[in-house]
Amino acid sequence: MLNLILFGPPGSGKGTQSEKLIVKYGLKHLSTGDLLRSEIAQQSQLGMEAKNFMDKGQLVPDEVVIGMIRSAIENNPTVKGFLFDGFPRTSAQAAALDELMELKNTSIKIMLAMEVGEKELMSRLLKRGETSGRSDDTNEEVVKARIIEYHNKTAAVADYYKQFNKVVTIKGEGTVEDIFNALCNEIDLKV
Ligand code: AP5
Repeated sequence: MLNLILFGPPGSGKGTQSEKLIVKYGLKHLSTGDLLRSEIAQQSQLGMEAKNFMDKGQLVPDEVVIGMIRSAIENNPTVKGFLFDGFPRTSAQAAALDELMELKNTSIKIMLAMEVGEKELMSRLLKRGETSGRSDDTNEEVVKARIIEYHNKTAAVADYYKQFNKVVTIKGEGTVEDIFNALCNEIDLKV
C-alpha cells in the first residue's frame, strides 16, 4: 500500500493538493475536516459536539477523530493506499495511526509537509470565508486561533515522523500546479 500524510497549517493547500494526488496515485482521501463537516451536515451527535470546538478554531478531542479514522480505514479494506489530510494532528493521533497501519501490515511511507507563511495563510482563509460558508473561515480571530492551535499542538507531529526519516518539506506557495509537481517528484522518489 501507498500511505501518505499531507501535512501543513490551516490554509496551506492540503485539500487542494489532495484532490489532485488521489487521482494521480489512485488513493483513498481521508480528511478528518471533511468527515467532521459531513457529521455536522447530518446533525449527528458527534457533529454537534465537534462543531463547538471547530467554531472556536480548536482541535476536536483525539478519541473522536481517531474513532472516525478507524471506521474509515475499516470501511475501505481494498484500497491501494490512503492519503491522510489533516490527520494526525497530535502525537496521540500519530501513535494511533501507527497502530492502525500495523493492523493492516502496512505503514506510512512519507509525510509531505507544506510550508506557507502566516500572512498568506490568513489571506487565503479569509478570502475563502467570503464565499465558502465555512464558519471557521469568516472570523479573523478564529482563523488566528486555528493557526495558534497548529503551532501549539500539531507542528510537533512532524518531529515524530522525522525520527523515522519520513518527512519531506515542500514550499506551499506558488501555483497549484508547481506545488503539485513538487509533491509528485517527492512521492515518485519514494515509491
Ligand atoms: P480542516 O478541515 O482540516 O481544516 P484546516 O487544517 O484548517 O485546513 P483547511 O482545509 O482550511 O486548509 P488546507 O490546508 O486544506 O488548504 P485548502 O486546500 O483548503 O480542519 C477544520 C477543523 O476541524 C479544525 O480546526 C479542527 O477543529 C477540526 N479537525 C480536523 N481534523 C482534526 C484532527 N485530526 N484532530 C482534531 N481536530 C480536527 O486551501 C485553502 C484556501 O487556499 C482555498 O481557498 C484554496 O483555494 C486556496 N489555495 C490552495 N492552494 C493555493 C495556492 N497554491 N495559491 C493560492 N491559494 C491557494
